[in-house]
This record gives sequence, structure tokens and C-alpha cells, in this order.
Amino acid sequence: MKSLFIYFSGTGNTKRVLDVAKNCYISRDYEVSEIDVTKDNPLSLDDFDCLVVFYPIYAFNAPKPIIKFVKKIKKSNKKIPCIIMKQSGEHLFWNNASSIYLTRLLKRRNIIVLNEVHYLMPYSFVFRHSDYMAYKMNNIMEKLVPIDLERFFNNEGIRPKRFFLDSLFALIFRIQWLGGRLNGRLYKVDYNKCIKCMKCVNDCPSKNIIYKDDKFKFKGNCLMCQRCVMYCPNKAIKCGVFNAWRVDVPYTFREAEFQEEKKPNFCRKSYIEYFAKAEETINNHKNI
Ligand SMILES: Cc1cc2nc3c(=O)[nH]c(=O)nc-3n(C[C@H](O)[C@H](O)[C@H](O)COP(=O)(O)O)c2cc1C
Ligand code: SF4
Ligand code: SF4
Repeated sequence: MKSLFIYFSGTGNTKRVLDVAKNCYISRDYEVSEIDVTKDNPLSLDDFDCLVVFYPIYAFNAPKPIIKFVKKIKKSNKKIPCIIMKQSGEHLFWNNASSIYLTRLLKRRNIIVLNEVHYLMPYSFVFRHSDYMAYKMNNIMEKLVPIDLERFFNNEGIRPKRFFLDSLFALIFRIQWLGGRLNGRLYKVDYNKCIKCMKCVNDCPSKNIIYKDDKFKFKGNCLMCQRCVMYCPNKAIKCGVFNAWRVDVPYTFREAEFQEEKKPNFCRKSYIEYFAKAEETINNHKNI
């Protein structure tokens, strides 16, 4: 059996989910082909038995590179079962709106979303979670992914609840696509801190950072993925009007002592509910 994984990951959290899922597929004797939507072109889906789409939620939507990529996929001659594995910094129900447009685009290509799951992973933007929280989120994700995939393979459909006006909500927040392009031009390098390692230039998924005549220039194709900001070794990049929201220290995901969150009340209820439900699911599926 052959599966195709397509993904976009700004700072690596989505890729972590993909890696766990990949091990599950391989242990079921699947061949896995992996496509980073910012690097590769679509393949014919007729050659595959299932598709898995991985993405981080950006402003209650799927990131633009995922949408652009899916639009380029040709309609398949057979129905392809699909699972969406999305993740984000909070587990609010509004985030479920992120897949509505994507699911519609996939359906037009004969790709049928049967399951859709959502994991909590640390924020790459807005504020930095404590290392304790990041470890906890990642640890739970690693336990939930095999359970969710087992349910997918057993044809146990898992779909998120939809709410009235969800589509409109997602549509309004798609302004982030434009906001990224405009705000992206305001990103700046602090030359007093920069050590000219060129990591930002080489790693930007949209080739948006140009270094010429000893100067850095940010063009208008920024995805606001925050990769350059998070992984700059000297915290030298400022991200325009959203600079106060930048997360400029990568998460280690190593086991950490309990630490108070920087914003302890932010989405507190949704985090408590997510962890409680996750623990219950893990306890109910101890044999997986
Ligand atoms: C521009 C931007 C917008 C975001 N919007 C949301 C959002 O609407 N809801 C949410 O829960 N998390 C949001 N996040 C947080 C990311 O979904 C989260 O940090 C994710 O783990 C990043 O994944 P990655 O490392 O694969 O890029 C946003 C992050 C960025 C950079
Ligand atoms: S990653 Fe940071 S230190 Fe390296 S070139 Fe870019 S701005 Fe300078
Ligand atoms: S400039 Fe930075 S935030 Fe914008 S797309 Fe490139 S790496 Fe991502």
C-alpha cells in the first residue's frame, strides 16, 4: 500500500506530527512518500492508496502554501481516502474552520476527507510557551497520533464539530495571507546582532530574504511562518508590527520541570479541556 504525505511546517511542529505518523504507517507496511509543499510539485494521486495532509493553523486557516499546492493536484481517477492532521497553539473550536475550504478543494479532486484530527503544539507566534508546556504538548501528541491513525485504519470516522458561520469566520481571517505579504516587508535585521550566518536566507520557505551589498531585504512573499525569527542564532530579526509576538527561542521538547506559563490565563480553559480529553483517550486505548 502506498501513502502520500503532504505538509507545510514553519518552525517544525507539524513535521514532528508527520514523523510520528510516518512510523505508524511504516509499521503497517505502507510505503510513505513525503512532500514539502514549498519545495516539490504534486504527483499523480492515482498511484496512491491514501493521502495525509499536515499543516499548522494560521489565523484560523490552512496556510497558503497548502492551499496553492492542493489547487495544483489533478483530479484523481479513483476516490482517495484522506486524513487531515492539523496542529496549532490552542484548541479552540474556531480552529476547525481552517479545513473547510481545503476539504472542498480536496473533494473536487476526488480526495475524500474521512478523518480530521487536531493536536495542541506550542505557539511559534503570539508568545513562547514554557519548555514544560511544550514538552507536555509534544508528549501527548506522540501518544495520540497512533491512536487516531488506528481509528482511521479501522474506518472509525473522526470529524470536528462545525459551527454556524465557521466558513465566514475563516474567510475573514484569510486576510492573514495578505497581512503576511505586507507585514513581511517590515521584517528587519538588527545589524548589531547579526553574525551573517545566512541561516535565515537559506532556510526561508518562500525565498523571501535577499542578502545583497551587505544588506538584508525582505520581499513581499512572506508567509509569516516565523522560521527566520525562531532559528536566528542571535535573535537578530524583528517581525514588523507583530514584533511583540515574536518567539525567538526554539523549543527543545526535552523533559522539563514544571514552569509557570508566561500568559497563564491565555486560553486556559481550552488547554485544560484538551489535556483532560487527551488523557481519557490515551487511557481508553492503552493497548495501542
Ligand atoms: C502567522 C501565524 C498564525 C497563527 N494562527 C494561529 C491560530 O489561528 N490558531 C492557533 O491555534 N494557532 C495559531 N498559530 C500557532 C501555530 O499554529 C502553532 O505554533 C504551530 O505549532 C506552528 O507549527 P509549525 O512549527 O509547523 O509552523 C499561528 C502561528 C503563526 C505563525
Ligand atoms: S539568521 Fe540571524 S544572524 Fe544569521 S544571517 Fe540571518 S539575521 Fe543574521
Ligand atoms: S521571511 Fe521569515 S517569516 Fe517570512 S516566510 Fe521567510 S522565514 Fe518565514
